[in-house]
Amino acid sequence: MRVLFVCLGNICRSPTAEGVLRALAAREAPDLTLEVDSAGTAGYHIGEPPDPRTRAAAARRGYDLSTLRARVVEPGDFERFDLILAMDRENLRVLRRRAPADAHERLRLFLEFAPHGHAAEDVPDPYYGGANGFEEVLDLVEAAARGLLAHLRRQPRAA
Ligand code: 4NP
Repeated sequence: MRVLFVCLGNICRSPTAEGVLRALAAREAPDLTLEVDSAGTAGYHIGEPPDPRTRAAAARRGYDLSTLRARVVEPGDFERFDLILAMDRENLRVLRRRAPADAHERLRLFLEFAPHGHAAEDVPDPYYGGANGFEEVLDLVEAAARGLLAHLRRQPRAA
């Protein structure tokens, strides 16, 4: 299974999801053959590591994001990945415009996988907000990553 997380800049939300899912899968589902990556719909930060605030908040919960580097979504991603998960509805709209028709069924909102009771659809963009935004990203991402992992374990070949 190949999973791609997509946000705007690929320096806050989607690298967090990449690091969290990878760590969770290694710990709780080592049997699952999973490839995890992330990318942005915008190219403002290509080649940069995740935002220092994102890295610090993730490190406090035990996730090391320091080796990740930002990139933009490219046409080949729509063929390569089994699931392409947008961090919010705006980025999902952008992906729908860019993806070929046969990839649309593989485009989803990441928070669809959060447990019922989590009403949010979007992981809010923390870039211009306060420190609490980065904690909120981690809370939402950890919840949805658990749900996604459960989903992948139920149907490891066809998400
Ligand atoms: P991300 O956050 O999409 O979660 O990586 C952002 C990062 C950078 C910008 C916006 C959002 N920016 O405008 O540079």
